[in-house]
Amino acid sequence: MSHTYDWVIREASLYDGTGAPPVIADIAIEGGRIAEVGAAGGTARASLDGRGLALSPGFIDVHTHDDFAAVLHPQMEFKLCGGVTTCVVGNCGMGAAPFAEASVMARAFHPHAVLPEWRGYAGYLAQLDAAPPAVNVGVLIGHGTARMAAMGQEVRAPEAKEMARMKAIITEGLEAGALGLSSGLIYDPGRFAGTDELVELASLMRGTGALYATHMRDESTGLLESVNEAIAIGERAGVPVQISHHKASGRSAWGLVRESLQLIERAQARGLGVHADQYPYTAGSTILSAVFRDGKFGGGIGELSAGDVVIASSAARPEWEGKTVVELALAMGCEPEAAATRILAEEPGATVVLHVMSEDDVRTVMRHRSTMIGSDGIPTLEGKPHPRLYGTFARVLGRYARDLGLFPLAEAIYRMTGFPAAKFALEGRGVVKPGAHADLVLFDPERIIDRGTFADPHRAPDGIVSVFVNGVKAVEQGRATGLRPGRALRRATARS
Ligand code: ZN
Ligand code: CU
Repeated sequence: MSHTYDWVIREASLYDGTGAPPVIADIAIEGGRIAEVGAAGGTARASLDGRGLALSPGFIDVHTHDDFAAVLHPQMEFKLCGGVTTCVVGNCGMGAAPFAEASVMARAFHPHAVLPEWRGYAGYLAQLDAAPPAVNVGVLIGHGTARMAAMGQEVRAPEAKEMARMKAIITEGLEAGALGLSSGLIYDPGRFAGTDELVELASLMRGTGALYATHMRDESTGLLESVNEAIAIGERAGVPVQISHHKASGRSAWGLVRESLQLIERAQARGLGVHADQYPYTAGSTILSAVFRDGKFGGGIGELSAGDVVIASSAARPEWEGKTVVELALAMGCEPEAAATRILAEEPGATVVLHVMSEDDVRTVMRHRSTMIGSDGIPTLEGKPHPRLYGTFARVLGRYARDLGLFPLAEAIYRMTGFPAAKFALEGRGVVKPGAHADLVLFDPERIIDRGTFADPHRAPDGIVSVFVNGVKAVEQGRATGLRPGRALRRATARS
């Protein structure tokens, strides 16, 4: 039988994304899909020598805020060169539609950008079809964005017609092929929603294959109540739950993750599909306005000292980037609270890096079988974003799996491929088998490591050799080829 494939990758250590130990195999690619696994008979138009390298499914970043970056920076090098082949956008309640409300968020991350206008989630996905990014993109519907469209910043429960408006926005997204609904319960206006509102809206996911993802109300000393709320929403609504960036934030909350993991285990034992994602760092990142309110630091992330808050992006005053609020207060000759007030007045969309977690907790969460990997990267490409934007996956593989031995490499890969693909219902992705989409990463397991630092974050990891997206080589010898083979991903069970 003679056959000509598009590509053959020969004799790499194949990690298939299921957690199984590696095997040496040839992989043949044809027409965007894996054609053969094992000994590939026949010839190939192009081939790669995989000897000494690991080959795995492309990494799936289930927690991103790349909704607008995928349109504005379709090369997506900051993800692609780190081995990511699929991004799930729309996390933390912040969605891509309706456009007017979504643009408010876009301006915080991309202050100088001009976006093409789209209508609804269908319009957003059609925009990606028309101008594809380098990586695949699946979307979550943002609860906060929907609430803002329905009732502005009202601090109360929705009236019937406001509820109907939110449901219409969410239903449009679901029918367009969204993977679920996300909430951001520390942000305005998501935090004004009560549990009942969230149950009613999450119920729209029931039976559709879509899930409910949540940035919980309190990740500090209120962590356990928050996990209980997330689980209750899933159980009452009858939908799977994804807890975003599982952590205990602030010194007085450290250690609580042992109990929050038990809450997850117990809910799983009762039959709820509840899991979490995590980024591999002891610092978080968000917008300053979410952690400095009414003249003081805190909110859902716990007691916070101004010395632990670093300005990550400020288009109005780039010279503030990389400095702590304490340093800026000294320079301004005022108290940290006064400095933060002034920073927000000049730059309402300022983003921050927060040094608030313990390394023990990071490892405890990462080791747990409920945890998959998601970067939560904030693509403020002009500032000093948290280095997780680039380095999340390489850091889990290099630092946590290889150097610290937290788990075998095969399991680390499973937590960024087969596991998230199953949870987010990404059909034919996250595993290497005949017929699957050819999203692949070839990397050097001895060398792979993140390189970005908080002072110098714009650095691709070391050790990523080649990346294929839908069978097209998008990274070669660590560099983007400039091709944009990504697709808008629609939920397989969506009506259309
Ligand atoms: Zn979040
Ligand atoms: Cu997020």
